Amino acid sequence: MCGIVGYVGSGDTAGVLLSGLARLEYRGYDSAGIAIINDTGESCLRKSSGKLAQLRKLLESSPAIAGSTGIGHTRWATHGGPTDENAHPHYSEDGSVVLIHNGIIENFAQLRDELADVKLQSETDTEVVAVLLGRELAIVGDLETAFRNVVKRLKGTFTLLAAAVSEPGKIVSARHHSPLVIGLGEGESFLGSDVAAFVEHTRRAVAVADDRIVVITADGVTVTDFDGNLAEVSEYEIAWDPAAADKGGWPSFMAKEISEQPAAVADTIRGRVNDGVVDIPELAALGDEYLQRVNRIVILACGTAAYAGMIGRYAIEEWARVPVEVELSHEFRYRNPIFDANTLVISVSQSGETMDTLMAVNFAREQGLKTISVCNTQSATIPRESDAAIYTYAGPEVAVASTKAFLSQIVALQLLGLHLARVRGALTTEAHRETVAELQTIPDKVAEVVAVHKQVKELAHWMANTNSVLFLGRHVGFPTALEGALKLKEIAYIHAEGFAAGELKHGPIALIDHGQPVFVLVPSPRTNSVMHSKVVSNIQEIRARGARIIAIVETGDTAVLPFADDVIRVPLTDVLFEPLLQVVPMQWFALELSTVKGLDVDQPRNLAKSVTVE
Ligand code: M6R
Repeated sequence: MCGIVGYVGSGDTAGVLLSGLARLEYRGYDSAGIAIINDTGESCLRKSSGKLAQLRKLLESSPAIAGSTGIGHTRWATHGGPTDENAHPHYSEDGSVVLIHNGIIENFAQLRDELADVKLQSETDTEVVAVLLGRELAIVGDLETAFRNVVKRLKGTFTLLAAAVSEPGKIVSARHHSPLVIGLGEGESFLGSDVAAFVEHTRRAVAVADDRIVVITADGVTVTDFDGNLAEVSEYEIAWDPAAADKGGWPSFMAKEISEQPAAVADTIRGRVNDGVVDIPELAALGDEYLQRVNRIVILACGTAAYAGMIGRYAIEEWARVPVEVELSHEFRYRNPIFDANTLVISVSQSGETMDTLMAVNFAREQGLKTISVCNTQSATIPRESDAAIYTYAGPEVAVASTKAFLSQIVALQLLGLHLARVRGALTTEAHRETVAELQTIPDKVAEVVAVHKQVKELAHWMANTNSVLFLGRHVGFPTALEGALKLKEIAYIHAEGFAAGELKHGPIALIDHGQPVFVLVPSPRTNSVMHSKVVSNIQEIRARGARIIAIVETGDTAVLPFADDVIRVPLTDVLFEPLLQVVPMQWFALELSTVKGLDVDQPRNLAKSVTVE
């Protein structure tokens, strides 16, 4: 969950590291640090607890040296609290090597026992590796061999970057179940947790497979397995525009990303509709015959991605008539799940690096199941390890709270549902075309609902002292309500819960007291009149007990007006597409409540964007 960056070249090393860390700060922001080695073998290390701004401040009073070789780290604490001492990089005891780490070294305690004579400076598992590396280097005399010997002894998950004062101009790195990508420049090379670390310097990237050791110099890179055998690599061009990872004048990345949702949806649909019918080229690898045989689908994901999965489930079942289950990735593989050869596993992950989801996908593959990855990050680990990948083209999502990735994940799953429906002959061509035509109107409708910002902002400011908010929905409105609640917990630190509206009377209604704010997602009376009237009844039940109702309703629906304190209008659409519109006001609401409370919208406490530990 930490962000790592490495650079070898003749540029401004400290500048490259800091700008890389700024783009990776979403991965963790408890502390940050850099180390630089120059060609005469001098080194310097600067690190500080707190966000990157603290490190920048430190560098103003105590600038780093110039040098061709540098590593930088932004931390999400696991071993040891977020202190200056525990911040990375770490020196070996003799100062001969400097090292950074993302992940967890599980045999840390045994390794630490070997170093009983060493007084460590920190409580981290990382420093133990730095010390071991320094000792090994003293024995074998070259960094690469020493690094390889140490890496082979480690258990757990790790991406490690190390440099030695005796070998300036070189960084050695290793990955085991933790992300690492290479950037290739002209006379300079980069390493990063993801391409955001160096996209402003080069668009040429190399994906690194698991269990690889990478050595970079200014002139190039070498990739081997842990035993030193050369490994094949594939270079690709980074599709993201570097400017897309900047705030571009918005007060927060989250605000920018909410407003980018119409484009995220349109870009995810683009190229996947042919003459009014969905055809996802990436699924050709699986073959129509296999897709016809699939008798069950298991969607694996965490957090917001899991809610997207729950919403996608309704569409896939409705259109393709295949039973779908949605399971949290971290629960899946520990309960001895039952499946047969025709069970298809679909993972959903913005980052493509979420460890819980990666492990669940690997487990499914070990059982011989086919896997499809719905992912927003090109060449991330999960899509690379899946049988097929459907990329969501939301562009880089920097704010920890997921917004545009959520919408594009729902759309990708809906496209998948329509693709399966076509291949399996489960939907008439006319119904298929009508559904696709409606889906193609969604970007404009999302744009309309993005414009409710002002109304929601007033509401949030008025509710600034609220300490609990409930969200109710039925059918696809239920997972949408869960997502609304998650956004509020995540960035406004307010107790929030989402409920299936029908469940209320089975217990949660006891929470309703005078003035309790409740967002209610009201389904369309046109397309779902039965559910609509049930939700209107639910509104009356809680209203009678003093709830303050904020109703999100379709334009033209007047049935709720007598019972709602606030009404937020969204455009008309089909029931299965309603979440794509109804979630947007809740995203704005969370953002505005976070803002009015003076909180950090993009980097909420205790969280990291990409959770690469189990
Ligand atoms: O990168 P992923 O989509 O796999 O991440 C999954 C969750 O950690 C993520 O959606 C998380 O719940 C978000 N911060 C929610 O806004």
